[in-house]
Amino acid sequence: MDIQKFVEDKLKELEKKLAGKKVLCAFSGGIDSAVTATLIHKAAPESLTCVFIDHGLIRKGEAEEVMRVFKEEHGMNLIHVNAEKRFLEALKYVTDPERKRKIIGEEFIRAFEVEAKKIGHVNFLAQGTIKSDVLESGIGAKHVKSHHNVGGLPGVVDFEEIIEPLRTLYKDEVRKVGLELGLPEKVVYRQPFPGPGLGVRVIGAVTREKLDIVREADAIFREEVEKADISTKPWQFFAILTNAQSVGVKNGARVYGYTIALRAVHSKDGRDADWARIPYDVLTKASQRIVTEIEQVNRVVYDITTKPPSTIEWE
Ligand code: XMP
Repeated sequence: MDIQKFVEDKLKELEKKLAGKKVLCAFSGGIDSAVTATLIHKAAPESLTCVFIDHGLIRKGEAEEVMRVFKEEHGMNLIHVNAEKRFLEALKYVTDPERKRKIIGEEFIRAFEVEAKKIGHVNFLAQGTIKSDVLESGIGAKHVKSHHNVGGLPGVVDFEEIIEPLRTLYKDEVRKVGLELGLPEKVVYRQPFPGPGLGVRVIGAVTREKLDIVREADAIFREEVEKADISTKPWQFFAILTNAQSVGVKNGARVYGYTIALRAVHSKDGRDADWARIPYDVLTKASQRIVTEIEQVNRVVYDITTKPPSTIEWE
């Protein structure tokens, strides 16, 4: 496929369609919504309003990076909504993974509705649907986890038509379009991140303290894997805060602290996965840093299970 031609044609088409009209886009920071928003922004910057609902379950530095790249460098009309409080409130004491996912999905729609009401009537609602979403929907796969997506948004936005400019593209083509539009490699090749975010990487009830712990451990692990000389980088690598506590010794005193699990997998499309044989010295460094830099953690374990039978995420 000729990516340059796709971009040229799409920009022309969108320019014509969107002139003088209003478009609203839910921006998650993920590759699909980022490329959708960037295409529309290039074609009709005046028409576009993007809303980034920050549920507080995102990775370290993510909101800052999104705002820097898209708002400051690209000049996109992007609204950052800090909705952490309402998500944490709704998740209070909730331990069941499916309920957590449901609550996060519903809160997302509600938080978006508040913003959409402020904006009022729009002509178009833009969505980052790609070819695999179209192909997979409707296939009767056995239900394992309810995926968080923006499927409920049409119900809360006052709009006339949905536009999905990436509908005919596969993921690797979406990445190429992103590069063609001038998005940085760091954004285009970002590892997949679940919609419910760190909410499903804190096992058991989610609290701000636990989120901060997993966020820090995750940042350390990612940093160590990224700077290591590994020939094939894993498809995903991240930290989970288990709800196991265990006895340890820190600074000569007994502690009863948290256990962090590290997970790194190789996969083609997330449907099955093998655990990544990360070099021991990289794991050692990550583990040492995690127990030294995060006061509440005194144990780190590495997940060596394939999918199936386990899934990539723990919840
Ligand atoms: P599992 O844990 O089911 O994950 O093996 C497979 C892939 O999907 C990602 N994942 C999600 N992505 N919304 C998403 O957009 C979700 O709710 C969600 N849950 C899991 C996961 O990170 C892995 O890449």
